[in-house]
Amino acid sequence: MKEKGKYLRSNHPQSIRAAIAKEYDSERWDALGHLHISINGNSSFKYRHEGKSFYEYLQENPAANIKFNEGMSNYSNLEHQLIPAVYSFNDFKTIVDIGGGNGELLQQLHQIYPQKELVLVELDSVVKGIKTNVFTTVAGDFFKPFEGVKGNAVILKRVLHNWSNEHAISILKNVKNTLASKSKLLIIEKIRNSHFNGNSMDDADMLMLTINSEAQTRSYKQIQDLIIAAGYLPGASYPVAGCDLEIFEAYKE
Ligand SMILES: C[S@@+](CC[C@H](N)C(=O)[O-])C[C@H]1O[C@@H](n2cnc3c(N)ncnc32)[C@H](O)[C@@H]1O
Repeated sequence: MKEKGKYLRSNHPQSIRAAIAKEYDSERWDALGHLHISINGNSSFKYRHEGKSFYEYLQENPAANIKFNEGMSNYSNLEHQLIPAVYSFNDFKTIVDIGGGNGELLQQLHQIYPQKELVLVELDSVVKGIKTNVFTTVAGDFFKPFEGVKGNAVILKRVLHNWSNEHAISILKNVKNTLASKSKLLIIEKIRNSHFNGNSMDDADMLMLTINSEAQTRSYKQIQDLIIAAGYLPGASYPVAGCDLEIFEAYKE
C-alpha cells in the first residue's frame, strides 16, 4: 500500500476509511447520476428510492444507517477536536447536541469537561444503536417541538445544511424549548466562501442537492438571516481554526 493509503486502514489513528465509504457509497453516486432531477427542483435521491427522503431511507435500512453514522463520525472526528480549542464550554452545566449522530462531539467534550451533563438527541434509529455511559440519549425528531430536554448550551452541528430555508427555520423554532433560561443555541456549520475554501463550488452542495433541491451550504449572512427569521437574537460567532466551520451563538431572549 502507498504511503497515503495508510489512512484507509481502519486501525490508523487518523483513519478516514468510514468517511470515504460513506462519501463514495453506490446509493449516493446513483443519486448524483440523476442530478438532472434535482436541478429541475425535485430530489434525485427520492426519485431513486420510491419517494423516500434520505433520512427516511436510513431509518428503514439499518446497514445503510450504520454506514452513514460511522462515516459521519469519522468525517467529523478532526473538527470535534478543533471546536473545543476555539470555544469554551466551561460555563454550561448541561450541553445538548441535537442531530449529533453517534455522539462523537459529546465524547470529545467529555474528555475536556468530565463533570458536564451531556445529552444527545437523535432519531430513534440512531439512538438505539448507541451504548454509552458518557452521555444520555433521547430519541427525538427536530420537526416536532421537544419536551423534557433542557440545556444551557444546545448544539446543532452540520444539521441545517441538509434542509431548505423553510425546514431550517422550522428546526430552529422547534429546538427553542430545549433552551433553559439565559442559555445559548450554538449553530455550527460549514460556511460558503469562507477564508478556508475561497469561492470554490462546494462538493457538499452537489450532494445536498441530491437529497433536497433546496439544501445548501450557506454563507455567513444566510445563516444569520435564518437565526433572525426563527426569532432568535444573533450573538457572537467564531471561526473554527483548521477547518471551514463557524460557530454561531443565538439567544432566545
Ligand atoms: C449531516 S449529519 C450531522 C451529524 C453530526 N452533528 C456531525 O456534525 O457529525 C445530520 C444528522 O441529523 C440527524 N437527523 C436527521 N433528521 C433528523 C430529525 N428529524 N430529528 C433529529 N435528528 C435528525 C441525522 O440522523 C444525522 O445524524
